[in-house]
Amino acid sequence: MKILVTGGAGFIGGNFVHYMVNKYPEDKIVNLDLLTYAGNLETCKPVEGKSNYKFIKGDIADREFIFKLFEEEKFDIVVNFAAESHVDRSITNPDIFVKTNVLGTTTLMDAAKKFGVKRYHQVSTDEVYGDLPLDRPDLFFTEDTPLHTSSPYSSSKASADLFVLAYYRTFGLPITISRCSNNYGPYHFPEKLIPLMISRALADESLPVYGNGENVRDWLHVEDHCAAIDLIIRNGRVGEVYNVGGHNERTNLEVVQTILRALNKPESLIEYVTDRPGHDRRYAIDPTKLETELGWKPKYNFDTGIQQTIEWYLNNKEWWQNILSGEYQQYFEKQYGKK
Ligand code: NAD
Ligand code: TYD
Repeated sequence: MKILVTGGAGFIGGNFVHYMVNKYPEDKIVNLDLLTYAGNLETCKPVEGKSNYKFIKGDIADREFIFKLFEEEKFDIVVNFAAESHVDRSITNPDIFVKTNVLGTTTLMDAAKKFGVKRYHQVSTDEVYGDLPLDRPDLFFTEDTPLHTSSPYSSSKASADLFVLAYYRTFGLPITISRCSNNYGPYHFPEKLIPLMISRALADESLPVYGNGENVRDWLHVEDHCAAIDLIIRNGRVGEVYNVGGHNERTNLEVVQTILRALNKPESLIEYVTDRPGHDRRYAIDPTKLETELGWKPKYNFDTGIQQTIEWYLNNKEWWQNILSGEYQQYFEKQYGKK
């Protein structure tokens, strides 16, 4: 089988490429990535040179290029991770989110339709459901929760999901969608909460917590997410949405405190900064469908996963220190001011 993975030089796509290349030596994995600021070929190093792996640089929204690629490669499965993924960046520059996340998705699906791809899988997010109140811990997102987005990022992902569902109903494209909660783990770009806090705490720099730190995220280890997608593309029902999450809710403050304790750093590093506009309060996934239909079970809980992740960052300083320069540095100064 030949599988196209888009965005495989990013965080989750990169982990998925490692997972698939190692687990299925008989399959061919093609990694297509534009190498934006978030893409990093260092992430692909562990699989470079393997006979069932190939990297191609390109834009999922470039129609001519994508059609040529599909014609030449004849993919059986497409798994689309490629996206602009950072909420804060979507607030300062929404346009590119529409181009990559929406137009990129329809371009890939048009090619999948034309060249007879057997499964198109869209990697989506629980952020399409909006947020839940903090005082209703009994509420969870199910696959039937209405879409109700807050940020330009989540709006672009919800738009893409609606196109994917429309391509199933209108054209019969064999699609599946997964909507997962916040991922963490190795190769996570240090603009996101967990790697940002680990890298800054190690440098004894202030840790910018938005608002009062009471917002809740439902943390999913990236390896458990990769296993879920693998199950869905092989055994999931065409036309269906599957939520992915493992009941690991933590407030942002709890996450930061856990990291500080593990690194033996003082809480005085925490600095409360201006809240994100439109900041979603709580995300919480109900994964019953994935568990009962496909037998998915996460390997990590947050306590074991965060320890593994912190160790990874300690053992792979070169990977993230190389990123903490150039474009990223300018972004950080603009986003937070010189701190
Ligand atoms: P990321 O930002 O780390 O990686 C995105 C990758 O896509 C990068 O390698 C980038 O170079 C590539 N890319 C961007 N635009 C492209 C284009 N036009 N053509 C080809 N490649 C392009 O993102 P991530 O955190 O790994 O997220 C992957 C997917 O999972 C996204 O679709 C995101 O919406 C979704 N998701 C992420 C999370 C999370 O917690 N990180 C949670 C839920 C859903
Ligand atoms: P993030 O990693 O950006 O993921 P998302 O917005 O997709 O959930 O942020 C996770 C949470 O951490 C979110 O509630 C915002 C908060 N946060 C901070 O408090 N400080 C920061 O510097 C960042 C990047 C995020």
